[in-house]
This record gives sequence, structure tokens and C-alpha cells, in this order.
Amino acid sequence: MSIIMAPMEGVFDYHFRELLTQIGGFDLCVTEFIRVSNTIFPAKVFKRYCPELSTGGRTTSGVPVIVQLMGGNPELLADNAAKVASLGALGIDLNFGCPAKLVNRRDAGSSLLQYPERIQEIVAAVRASVPEQIPVTAKIRLGYQDKSLAIENAHAVQQGGAASIVVHARTKKEGYRPPAHWDWIARIRKALTIPVVANGDIWSLEDYKKCKEVSGCQDVMLGRGAMAYPELALEISKYNQGEAFTARSWSEIQDLILHYFQIVEAAFDPRYVHGRIKQWIKHLGRTYPESHELFLQIREERDVVKIKERVTNFLL
Ligand SMILES: Cc1cc2nc3c(=O)[nH]c(=O)nc-3n(C[C@H](O)[C@H](O)[C@H](O)COP(=O)(O)O)c2cc1C
Repeated sequence: MSIIMAPMEGVFDYHFRELLTQIGGFDLCVTEFIRVSNTIFPAKVFKRYCPELSTGGRTTSGVPVIVQLMGGNPELLADNAAKVASLGALGIDLNFGCPAKLVNRRDAGSSLLQYPERIQEIVAAVRASVPEQIPVTAKIRLGYQDKSLAIENAHAVQQGGAASIVVHARTKKEGYRPPAHWDWIARIRKALTIPVVANGDIWSLEDYKKCKEVSGCQDVMLGRGAMAYPELALEISKYNQGEAFTARSWSEIQDLILHYFQIVEAAFDPRYVHGRIKQWIKHLGRTYPESHELFLQIREERDVVKIKERVTNFLL
């Protein structure tokens, strides 16, 4: 019953992985996608996306991190996979779900869901390029414009030799619009022999239970839900272990935001600090009414000192 942190470009970077894995509940993380288009990247690029390569491929709290690659060229993906494997990556994940127009126009991400044979070719090439003990996995959506190739694409991933598959239960066309079609994950699970990981719209323990029931999956991947509710993975894992869980109070969440402030200030150019902080406070507003109110107060503010003051002194 694994709980996997979703790859989230511009959100779940090294710092967020550190923060969330320290809170607990996650069994595995996937890096943001690394777009492979025309070169074999030097080690420093892989280490920028995955600093954990320097610490045995694990976060400080010991959670393994696998590296996600995205592209349409099997040979180039295979060469990059071999390179990052040689740097100590604990696994390679392949992105067949990105809906971005620019990415899709350049023959990568979800546009490949129109061509199951190419998906199989890519997975097989990457599988063949890395040592046997390093798992190769893939993440798909239910399709590009519609769901007609959902099962075929999942089969292609399995035939290519993937160890498991994550299914984000929406087509590219559906974007991030609810609902996620967990029943389609069940169809895919029944058609495959490799483990299927359910993904999409798990925001609470109740959603988790429902998603498991509908999809029949043991393993789930959490994205925006973990951003909006940083203890979501912990609550789910405690539930699975039959242990009691007490949610943090708002003042503890305030401390967490201030802790994140410190991390972001140390890591980013000052110009980007307010954006990162506001992004998270906005998402937290989905779970904590205080954070929603706080966001309304700081949304126009760009002065980091003033934002920090607001966070510190905020009382609803
Ligand atoms: C801001 C953002 C960035 C994302 N970046 C990636 C990415 O780099 N690779 C990937 O496979 N999926 C990416 N996704 C998709 C998520 O991993 C996940 O499949 C999707 O958000 C649905 O899960 P959720 O409802 O738990 O968020 C991204 C989603 C968002 C909202």
C-alpha cells in the first residue's frame, strides 16, 4: 500500500520533497519531469532536478526518489536514462501525461498517447538501457482527446517492460477538470498484470478510501492534495497501519509555512520567493480556512518581509 508523491513541475522540487517527506507518510517520490529533446544531459542537470542523487537517491528522511524523463525519441531517452542510472538514480519514470501545448507540439508528453506502438518502443528502449535492478515505470493519462486507446496504451507500457504504471484518470482534453475517472483505472488494472497506481483528485482520507474501492488499486499517487493538505499522506498511512492520527493545528501549519519561508529564502533568488510562498498559501486555503483568508490579505503583496509579518501575526 504505497503512497507516492506526484511529480509536479515548479512545485514539488527538492525543497518541497524534503518538507513533505519530513512530515511523513510517503513511500516514494518522483522528480519533476526532465524534458529530453536533443542532448544527453551532463550530470549537473540531473543533480539540479534530483539533488538526492548525491545522497543515495533518498531524501534526508530516507524516502527514495526516482527520476522522471519526458520526450519522444527512444534512443535519446534511453541514453539519458543510462546516464542518470549511472549517477545512482533508484528508478526511471517516463512521462506520457503532460498536457502542455508546447510540449505536445514537440512530440512529447500526452501527445504520445495517440501512438501506443511508440509508447511501447520508448519504454522498451529505456528498459534495455538501464541495469536490470533499476525499475522503469511510466505515467499515463486515459488518452489524448478521448479514452479509446486507454487500455492499449497501458498494455504498451506493460509490453515495453515497465515494472508498474501510474494512471492519472483523465484525458489530456479533460485537463484537470473533476471528476477523475477512477472506474477507468479499474478497467486498466484488470487488463494488466503489473501494479497500477491510482492518481487524480485524492484530496482527503475519504477520497483515498473511495478511490481504492472504485479502482481496486493498492497504491496511490498524491499531487495537489498533498500540497493543499501536507499531512494527507501521513493521515492515510496512519489509517492503513491502524494508528491514531491527530491533525496539526492552524498555528502549527503557520510554523510550517514560516519554516518553508526560510527554505525558499535560502534557495531561491529573492525575486521568486513571494511567488513560491503565495502559491503554497493559496493551495493550503483549500484545507485551512485561515490560509484562504491569509491569501486574500497577501495576494497583491510582493514585499517578502511584509508577507512574513502577515503569516507570523495572522489571526482569524
Ligand atoms: C503544477 C503541476 C505540475 C505537474 N507536473 C508534472 C510533471 O512534472 N510530471 C508529471 O508526470 N505530471 C505532472 N503533473 C501531474 C500530476 O503529477 C498529477 O498527475 C495530477 O496533478 C493529478 O493528480 P492530483 O489530482 O493528485 O493533483 C503536474 C500537475 C500540476 C498541477
